[in-house]
Amino acid sequence: MSLESDTFDADLAALAWLLELGADEAIGEAPVNRFEAVETPPPPRPAAAARRADPAASEAPPLPGAAERPDTAALVASCPDLASLRATLEAFEECGLKKGAKSTVFADGNPAARVMIVGEAPGRDEDRLGLPFVGRSGQLLDRMLAAIGLSRQAKEPERAAYITNVLPWRPPQNRDPSGDEIAMLLPFLHRHIALAKPQVLILMGNAAAKTLLETTTGITRLRGTWTECRGIPAMPMFHPAALLRDPEKKRAAWADLLHVQERLLRP
Ligand code: URA
Repeated sequence: MSLESDTFDADLAALAWLLELGADEAIGEAPVNRFEAVETPPPPRPAAAARRADPAASEAPPLPGAAERPDTAALVASCPDLASLRATLEAFEECGLKKGAKSTVFADGNPAARVMIVGEAPGRDEDRLGLPFVGRSGQLLDRMLAAIGLSRQAKEPERAAYITNVLPWRPPQNRDPSGDEIAMLLPFLHRHIALAKPQVLILMGNAAAKTLLETTTGITRLRGTWTECRGIPAMPMFHPAALLRDPEKKRAAWADLLHVQERLLRP
């Protein structure tokens, strides 16, 4: 092997490693003057350590996000429509995920659609474009919807689809969202569904199904059986990303899509 190809392979491996670490952008949005001295603030004290140092702190309320917070519930209840819910979410500064994300990914498609799809969280492409399901999973999702006559571009509610996620901000390095992050943002999702008033919900993957069905049962057991979420018929399905990883699951996904189509065709 020549020295040149050794270097090429090493560079490639280094790049792959950087990607693995989440360094998926060659440059940032704003220039940084690295010659300027930077004052590093002390790291925040973990809550447990703070409580040990100050016993009175144990009386303090749990950290934001430890549970669905009543003030967030009141905040979203004051949103009369989807536009105001979107604006309220865009102005919501309590969730750390927002700081690492480029976009607030609210929804795509036709809000008048009979079918609302809930995925997990934006990935890199979704974060870049500000729309849910626009990467590889999204392209597969569009093909799956087209197979039962639905499209996010359709104007007529009968043929349309409306798409959102459990989380509106991309978790760093696409890690799984934490229970606290989901709990903090859940009132937004509940209000989103209440305002969109779909006739059918499709819960794509574990995060959507477990969150909205309030269960620890996994998607492999849940999928394919109609259930209900806040009074709305809901079909849990494998996430398109799972179908890309394991094409054998496509047969089950097709069966689930046919259940949805059959339900939509009912008089
Ligand atoms: N996966 C999701 O769950 N949602 C997206 O928007 C993209 C990928």
